[in-house]
Amino acid sequence: MSNSSPQPQTRPKTRKETLQRPKGTQDIFGADIERWEYVESLCRLQFQNSGYQEIRTPAFEATELFERGVGEATDIVNKEMYTFEKGERRLSLRPEGTAGVVRAFVEQGMSRWPKPVKLYYMGPMFRYERPQAGRQRQFHQVGLELFGLDTPAADAEVILMAMRLFEKLGLPNLSLEINNIGTTECRENFKAGLRTVVQPYLAELCEDCQTRYNTNPLRMLDCKKETCKAVYARPDVKSFLETDFTSPESQAHFAEVIRSLEALKIPYRRNSYLVRGLDYYTKTVFEITSTNLGAQNAVCGGGRYNRLVEDLGGPETPAVGWALGMERLMSLVGELPKRELDYYIVTDQHPVAFELAERLRGQDYKTEVDLSGKGFGKQLERAAKLGARQTLIIGEAEAQKGELQLKHMQSGEQKTLLLQDFLSTLSS
Ligand code: HAM
Repeated sequence: MSNSSPQPQTRPKTRKETLQRPKGTQDIFGADIERWEYVESLCRLQFQNSGYQEIRTPAFEATELFERGVGEATDIVNKEMYTFEKGERRLSLRPEGTAGVVRAFVEQGMSRWPKPVKLYYMGPMFRYERPQAGRQRQFHQVGLELFGLDTPAADAEVILMAMRLFEKLGLPNLSLEINNIGTTECRENFKAGLRTVVQPYLAELCEDCQTRYNTNPLRMLDCKKETCKAVYARPDVKSFLETDFTSPESQAHFAEVIRSLEALKIPYRRNSYLVRGLDYYTKTVFEITSTNLGAQNAVCGGGRYNRLVEDLGGPETPAVGWALGMERLMSLVGELPKRELDYYIVTDQHPVAFELAERLRGQDYKTEVDLSGKGFGKQLERAAKLGARQTLIIGEAEAQKGELQLKHMQSGEQKTLLLQDFLSTLSS
């Protein structure tokens, strides 16, 4: 026997374990992916029509970017990041999109572009959270960011973009909650005041809030525990929260944002407890919630972040934006128009059929060619199963004569046409 040290005992993985997707992740496919693609294309269209351009940034970045950007004292960075080391570098899967977009804005010199710079993005984000309904470890965001303007109109535009998108999708029971958290300086005064008013009740707070009291007191207001909520609802704390600590300039900015929402007939609720879970915000912050969502009720969150570009090494550049959670959004979206199959080509003459299919697809007809090599009866059965509106039949005889048979699936009506005539009716 060799006297080498014993091998570490690793539990052998069962076949079932290795083959399952990780907890808190999803496969999106079938009827769901059709719905997702429909919503994504609606978002793209609306963003592009409003002058926003897509940006695709890496799914992982230097950990330091999120520490400096989102904030070291936030739960997202502190507890929820997937961080790993490669070589000398500490890297993290992105827990949100804004920090990466700002990094790219600085690195790619977009501050020299004409202002405002309007960007949008879509993609997976990663947070190590306890999975539950509406909360995944890999989830998808669609977001937009507007750089270079500190005007109330810029805030109003980005909020309007979200509200109109949700209206188009018919989302039920939405509520826009909005708050003004002022500049970094206003917030320092607010934090100090909050500590003073909460101090007598410190022992009643949960362990997390006791830590937040020292590290990031604003985050206390976001606590979901009933005992903590009761403390923050005490009359003295409440009246402190309702006092506006923000600068006259922030207040005037916010009042103008509110005036725009009113002019646009967008209902809103001022929520002085709304502080958001990320450190970069200044002035306007907002969330769009739905009572149909359960505990994780925010479908979209965002706000202004006037210091982040500078904090990440760029020139002073105000910015505002939001991100929506696709999984939560999709759980709210009802029936969507389904794209029908326009043509199914029943054939044993594939070169002719492929050429015809390309012509049809070129004119935006959804077209499939049967590839099975089975008899025409079976192929027609498949066309019916797929719900094709019309079937085009091209056998050897049709191919030789430059013809096809067109069968209307619902009426069963069938006629023979010259291929050329069929194509010319399409383009007319
Ligand atoms: P956030 O509020 O952390 O903001 O996330 C935005 C949205 O992403 C949430 O409202 C929610 O719908 C969705 N979401 C967040 N975490 C999860 C999760 N674990 N599972 C499912 N959905 C989730 C941000 O990320 C900011 N970057 C938004 C922003 C853009 N602010 C300015 N610009």
